[in-house]
Amino acid sequence: MIAVLDFGSQYNLLIARRVRELGFYCEILRYDVSAETLRQKGTRALILSGGPSTVTDETVLPRREVLDLGLPTLGICYGMQALCHILGGRVEKGTSAEYGRSVLERLGDSALLHGTSDPFEAWMSHFDLVTELPPGSTTVGRTATCPHAAAEHLERRLFMVQFHPEVSHTPQGSRILQNFLVRLAGLKPDWNLEDFVGATVERIRAQVGNGRAVCAVSGGVDSTVAAVLSHRALGDRLYPIFVDHGLLRKNEADQVDLILRQELGLPLHAVDASERFLAALAGVTDPEKKRRVIGETFIRVFEEEAKKAGPVDFLIQGTLYPDVIESVSVRGPSHTIKTHHNVGGLPERMHLKLVEPLRELFKDEVRRAGTVLGIPADILNRHPFPGPGLAVRIPGEITPERLRLVRESDAIFIEELRRSGEYDRVWQAFSVLLPIHSVGVMGDERTYEMAVALRAVTSVDGMTADWARLPYEVMERTALRIVNEVKGLNRVVYDITSKPPSTIEWE
Ligand code: XMP
Repeated sequence: MIAVLDFGSQYNLLIARRVRELGFYCEILRYDVSAETLRQKGTRALILSGGPSTVTDETVLPRREVLDLGLPTLGICYGMQALCHILGGRVEKGTSAEYGRSVLERLGDSALLHGTSDPFEAWMSHFDLVTELPPGSTTVGRTATCPHAAAEHLERRLFMVQFHPEVSHTPQGSRILQNFLVRLAGLKPDWNLEDFVGATVERIRAQVGNGRAVCAVSGGVDSTVAAVLSHRALGDRLYPIFVDHGLLRKNEADQVDLILRQELGLPLHAVDASERFLAALAGVTDPEKKRRVIGETFIRVFEEEAKKAGPVDFLIQGTLYPDVIESVSVRGPSHTIKTHHNVGGLPERMHLKLVEPLRELFKDEVRRAGTVLGIPADILNRHPFPGPGLAVRIPGEITPERLRLVRESDAIFIEELRRSGEYDRVWQAFSVLLPIHSVGVMGDERTYEMAVALRAVTSVDGMTADWARLPYEVMERTALRIVNEVKGLNRVVYDITSKPPSTIEWE
């Protein structure tokens, strides 16, 4: 296990990603993790992340006992400064801000920079500056403003870089991480998803024993992969429940049933609770209240259905790694602006123990695990869909008629994106109802109907997003079809805001 000590950098997940891409299992741990925890986890190398603090403030530093473990260590940005500060070097506050692209000139032979070009492009983001290295270290790279941009202490297996090797703006960064892990720490890559699948099936069996488990499936990637893994482990002792809340996309309930039950062989228990949800949502217009009502109704319906399973002790949940990291980092805005955890509190309420088979994985790893499990690409490559479904795509009140308008127009948009090959190029695409009336003309008649906004965004993780530059022909065809085929709509607009300042969903 490679431990990334988290000092709060926005790039921490990227460090873990790069390390895993190189074939090493990696966890992000709090910066002040104890030596005992690292020992128990079988840590073989340490990476100290960047972060917004200043080392001379003495508050955000690794424990000395952790450095005394003598593990191969790589300090990145703030991590380098922290190492220098603790091990007898010197860091000066605010002497030289350097942000963005810079050119690193190599100095002498370097084990860490082995195989990189000279010079190479390096991404910088620092305010404080290392002016003196710990005794015994050698400078192996500098930039115009940073005299110690890369340094090493071979005897102590201590490596330091002021730049960020984990970002794509440091094109040779992966090579540097690989040098650290393979050549210098002497580790062999051994992390792959086939092994993960086998080991996870065993782990679920061990955790659940002879017990029984329920899980909620939505047809999305995470819940499907979690359910299929658990089904492999538990067979009929798994009771997967699919709640149709009536806020799904066109034909979605049937498709989910078809794929999960017939293609994947899950013993699916589907509940059509759409009328109950719509009744509970009647008159509700506030976005957060919608989420609350949907979350509460979901829990009730799920609970009732789970009772039919007989005695159950476990709840399987498709929680992913980015949601579980105990982090000092400031999470991105979407985590606080909207209540995303639609069914929080379910395990406590139902006295169930949680099983989270995906809690170590990133989204793209879940997709690859899904491929290993034989889950159809249709499910694995699906765009994310919010738990509250179309409810957050209908500003104001939700009515069957409004659902029809958003559902039909959405289906046309998605069909056109698939047909043109654009679907897989965007992170998410959908239609949003604009509950205003505007004038149109169809044939000889004046119309006065509602509009939809089309939203398509590119993103890597949903935290930030840019509007997708779709080909005009695709947009034109989609708009034309929507006003021709969906009665009740006479106008289509395209959302060209990014996130931030907007969010992906409209509510
Ligand atoms: P926003 O709109 O915050 O969305 O930019 C970021 C990502 O999260 C999804 N989203 C939700 N997912 N429950 C969910 O499970 C929610 O209440 C919710 N709201 C937004 C959104 O679709 C996008 O992928």
